[in-house]
Order: sequence, then structure tokens, then C-alpha cells
Amino acid sequence: MSVVRLTHFTDPHLYGDETEALRGVATLPALTAALARAQTHDWPPDALLVTGDIVQDDPAGYPHFRRLFGALGLPVLCIPGNHDEPEAMRRELAGPPFVLGGHVDLGRWRIVLLDSCLPGSASGRMSPEALRGLDAALGSAGKRHCMVCLHHHPVPMASRWLDRVGLENAPEFLATLDRHQNVRVVVWGHVHQTYDALRKGVRLLATPSTCAQFLPNSDDFAVDPRPPAYRTLELRADGSLLTEVVWLDQRAGGSSRSACSAA
Ligand SMILES: [Fe+2]
Repeated sequence: MSVVRLTHFTDPHLYGDETEALRGVATLPALTAALARAQTHDWPPDALLVTGDIVQDDPAGYPHFRRLFGALGLPVLCIPGNHDEPEAMRRELAGPPFVLGGHVDLGRWRIVLLDSCLPGSASGRMSPEALRGLDAALGSAGKRHCMVCLHHHPVPMASRWLDRVGLENAPEFLATLDRHQNVRVVVWGHVHQTYDALRKGVRLLATPSTCAQFLPNSDDFAVDPRPPAYRTLELRADGSLLTEVVWLDQRAGGSSRSACSAA
């Protein structure tokens, strides 16, 4: 496996009610459309990645997710978000093809799945156990390149309201990454917008939601009218990667793709 290909969906915010909308977007039809769009291009990837807020505080949303993602014949790598219900999530997504937490080795890459949720809070925190687990997963990766996945943003997003609900102990998280030379990319959800930056040679990526988006660079909460989206990732054996965000253009029934970039 010289190239590892992932499709990243995040923050679908599903309800038990198939028609219920969040901020004007019916969340199950939007996720269904995003998945259908992904299946028309470069399918299948080696795995799917879903970085939290699978449901909107409604455990009845999990069976919809299981039905949609459970029969694709692909590993589905999942972590929780602040709107997930951890017990119901573990119960409903128990066993293959779902992988909850831990790490997965694919070709020359190790994918590390972290739980950054802080019970009862919209912001996140990496527990001492999670930080030790991260340190151990990076330390035992051998010659593999590492991709680290979490729900909350570990760097400021230049958005005052969002930056109050990021990863509270981001300095500890980043210091753990800095102890290792094999981290190539960190990926998160939560912020419902795209982000692409480089920190100490590590690519930092946020992926927009498969439902409604948040307006970037806004001091106060504001919805962005951009459509649902998902991200593709091509992880190469030399540690470089190619990624793009695919936006669903619902009015035209098509989609638009952002510029590709490699690091
Ligand atoms: Fe979310």
C-alpha cells in the first residue's frame, strides 16, 4: 500500500427524526448526499474517518449512521465530539467495521484516534490518560508516519466565540506532538469550517461539517451559508500528503472542489 486514501466526514449532527434540521440543514439527508457524492469519485478509499458530533445530543441518530456507514465494506474510524453520547456511541457502533479510538496502521501510516471530550462542556480537554496514549502510540509507530485525529481545535481559529470552546490544554497536546518526529498531520472537526496551516512542519487541517457551517473569523456566533462538505486525504509513503475539501453544491446538484495542496 504505497498510498493510503481516506475520506473524512465530520459533525453530521444526526437526529432520530430523519427530517430534523440544524441551523437550516436537514442533517441526515445532508450526510447521505455527502456520502453519495464521495462514492462517485475515487471510491473506495482505504478507510473512512469521522471526527465526532455524529449525533446532535440524540442517541436515536446512531442507527442512521450505522445503517449508512456500516455496509460499505470499509473501516470506519470514529472519535466522539461534544454532542455525542459516549455510552450510546460505544453500544451502537460496537465492532467492525467501526473502530472507536486507539490507533490503526494502514500502509506506512499510523492513524491515532483521540477522545478530546470533556463531559458536560462544549470545549475539550485531553485527559492525562489520552496524552499518555498519544505519546505511546507515536513512540511505538516505528518508521510509520503519523496522523493524529481529534474533535476539538488545538490552535486558535481567529474566532472569539469558537476559541472559547477549543482544546483547553492545547499546550500539553502540542508539547506531546513536539516530542516526536513522525507526526505529519493533525485533523479535527468541531469548527464547521475549513482550515489549513503548517506548525513546525506538521500540517494542521480542520474539515467543514456535512451539515451547516460556521462563519470563519467571526467574533460572535454566525452561520456560514456555504454548503455541506467533506475532505479527501491521500497519505503518501514518503510522509507527504495531498488533500482537498469537496463542497456539495446543492442548488446545482453538483459539487465544487477546493485547490489541492501537498506538504
Ligand atoms: Fe459540531
